[in-house]
Amino acid sequence: MTQQSRQQQPTQQQPIALVVGASRGIGRATAIEMAAHGYRVVGWYRSDAAADAEVARQIADDGGWYQGRRTDITDQQQVREGLSDLRRTDGSLQAVIVSAGITRDGLAGTMSLEAFTGVLQTNLVGSFLVARGALRAMRKHGGSIVLMSSTSGIRGQAGQTNYAASKGGVIAMTQALAKEAAPLGIRVNSLAPGFVDTDMFRAMDPRTRASVTDHIPLGRVGRPAEIARAARFLAGPDSSYITGQTLVIDGGMTS
Ligand SMILES: NC(=O)c1ccc[n+]([C@@H]2O[C@H](COP(=O)([O-])OP(=O)(O)OC[C@H]3O[C@@H](n4cnc5c(N)ncnc54)[C@H](OP(=O)(O)O)[C@@H]3O)[C@@H](O)[C@H]2O)c1
Repeated sequence: MTQQSRQQQPTQQQPIALVVGASRGIGRATAIEMAAHGYRVVGWYRSDAAADAEVARQIADDGGWYQGRRTDITDQQQVREGLSDLRRTDGSLQAVIVSAGITRDGLAGTMSLEAFTGVLQTNLVGSFLVARGALRAMRKHGGSIVLMSSTSGIRGQAGQTNYAASKGGVIAMTQALAKEAAPLGIRVNSLAPGFVDTDMFRAMDPRTRASVTDHIPLGRVGRPAEIARAARFLAGPDSSYITGQTLVIDGGMTS
């Protein structure tokens, strides 16, 4: 576990945000964004402790508060323990943003069952386990949950049967959860980014990457900070009348 400085001493009034997948990419940018806006941020990551320490360092340098924790969201026991740890942090959990996600692309005809279920296990089941715990943790005071879908969950792409199914599932799950959670004062929304410049994007085959911008009206891929700002909006009080929605952020690609 990495714990970072409190150059700014935490107070009971400061809200807590849990960012899942905070060590890299969109989650990292979201952790930094939330900390910059006064949240005490607890960040979960799967294995990259060095990347998590880097996030902790950056937030501390900016005067914010961050605590990282290795928590694999495919394991319900780890999710339980992570949420139970979080309850020991002063203040109340107001926002939960699940950015953790993986790809294992391949054509369906040759895709192993393990490649299919593995992606669903992280992207869909993992999101469910975190959301379920968040509902329990926030049921007395309300809050906001933001899940991570993708434009691939709206328009499936060849080579991504597993990923498209997981991200389409996140959109449907968002709608169902929003209806259940509304009476508790908890909102549930999701984000559907197009292409965003992260490790996940850089892992795509170079020819696809090069041709991607041809299909984006704004002429470039997104930056993690652009998704992070939308995550903060949906996670916070400025979106108080929005629930059950999926916000597409793709430079106009699916317009
Ligand atoms: N980049 C894009 O173009 C794009 C487009 C649309 C949607 N998205 C979605 O946006 C989200 C973030 O993507 P990204 O590009 O930022 O990905 P990324 O750079 O690959 O980062 C993924 C993050 O998720 C964490 N993670 C993965 N599996 C986990 C698990 N089982 N438990 C806990 N944490 C786990 C990783 O932790 P470690 O560092 O420890 O591995 C890392 O912090 C994903 O859900 C992705 O599907 C991305």
